[in-house]
Amino acid sequence: MSTRLITGIGELVTNDPSVGDESALGLLADAAVLVEDGRVAWVGRAAHAPEADGVTDVEGAAMIPGFVDSHSHIVFAGDRAAEFEARMAGQPYAAGGIRSTVAATRRATTEALTERASALAAEARAQGTTTLEIKSGYGLTVDDERRQLEIARTITDEVTFLGAHVVPPEFADGPDAYVDLVVGEMLDACAPLARWIDVFCETGAFTPEQSRRVLTAGAERGLGVRVHAGQLGPGEGTRLAVEFDAASVDHCTYLADDDIAALAGSSTVATLLPGVEFSTRHPYPDARRLLDAGVTVALASDCNPGSSFTSSMPFCVAVAVRDMRMTPAEALWAATAGGAAALRRADVGRLTVGACANLVELSAPSYLHLAYRPGVPLVRRVWKDGTPPFVR
Ligand code: NIG
Ligand code: FE
Repeated sequence: MSTRLITGIGELVTNDPSVGDESALGLLADAAVLVEDGRVAWVGRAAHAPEADGVTDVEGAAMIPGFVDSHSHIVFAGDRAAEFEARMAGQPYAAGGIRSTVAATRRATTEALTERASALAAEARAQGTTTLEIKSGYGLTVDDERRQLEIARTITDEVTFLGAHVVPPEFADGPDAYVDLVVGEMLDACAPLARWIDVFCETGAFTPEQSRRVLTAGAERGLGVRVHAGQLGPGEGTRLAVEFDAASVDHCTYLADDDIAALAGSSTVATLLPGVEFSTRHPYPDARRLLDAGVTVALASDCNPGSSFTSSMPFCVAVAVRDMRMTPAEALWAATAGGAAALRRADVGRLTVGACANLVELSAPSYLHLAYRPGVPLVRRVWKDGTPPFVR
């Protein structure tokens, strides 16, 4: 198997505190990374690098682990730009907007859905995302949910069944009958295609009791648990997530002191989605309160046509720094190692020996530029499992 040395790295973020400056980011100056068989085989000072079959010199650029975007809904059809325009003019965001995407997605061909999702995944990759979670939730029938998951599986292994996204219009008079379908025939069809189960536990979506039924049924089928909660108001979703040892509870815009205490004593990650608050004008989640309480925080895009139509993790990092008062180091960690924790993955989100060789070369001398130069396409090359498919 051939080896390649990536060298001339002016600043390397490893997310390994045992190397470099011993911070959480494990920063190393004048560094090199040896890649073998898609994995990191060695990390250290360039001056001490081993021989390799091939060499790539990045000439002083900063390199970071590929972003781990642990929350997206990119299998959909339609467009909700008019809804965004109305929000910017003062209209509130409501969970019901999801139903317009459900209608468009049901009407779309599988080819069109696949093409759109693949284009969005490529767009994310070009901005440094090397691990991407994708949810269903715009089908809401057995066949349409199965179809969304089948499409997601062509793009990623991190596939989430979100049949309990909202109650579809045909069940408006009997939401519990819809939950019966989700935990019955729909789960039978979807569990074999997914790694995770998710539920939107929120007023206007599913009650805590309904959410509990969904998560219990999913966990019994061997699916890992994730929860959407605290997006539109306070509720029981966060504590439910901790009770189920969810890998992650996502949004966390509204949290009570009890929720923070529960998260701090758990292995459930709080995943913050700054694109949502940016695009809905809701208040940003209080990242400092979570971090200061010792909660593990991740950042993700929540890429979807309603509440957050961005695939850009650099954008999320910049907003988290500017508007959520995360330090640049906390934000980058949350968008890489934090996302990996939210997916319970030890092989991504860090550059340690044995990890996937997922690296991003920045057109910048430091990762600080991700927040310092917002909106600028700083991602120059992306290595996924050791190969650079994307070059700007
Ligand atoms: O994560 N919160 C629920 N689901 C999505 C919104 C999807 C939509 O508006 O279409 C979210 O923000
Ligand atoms: Fe979401």
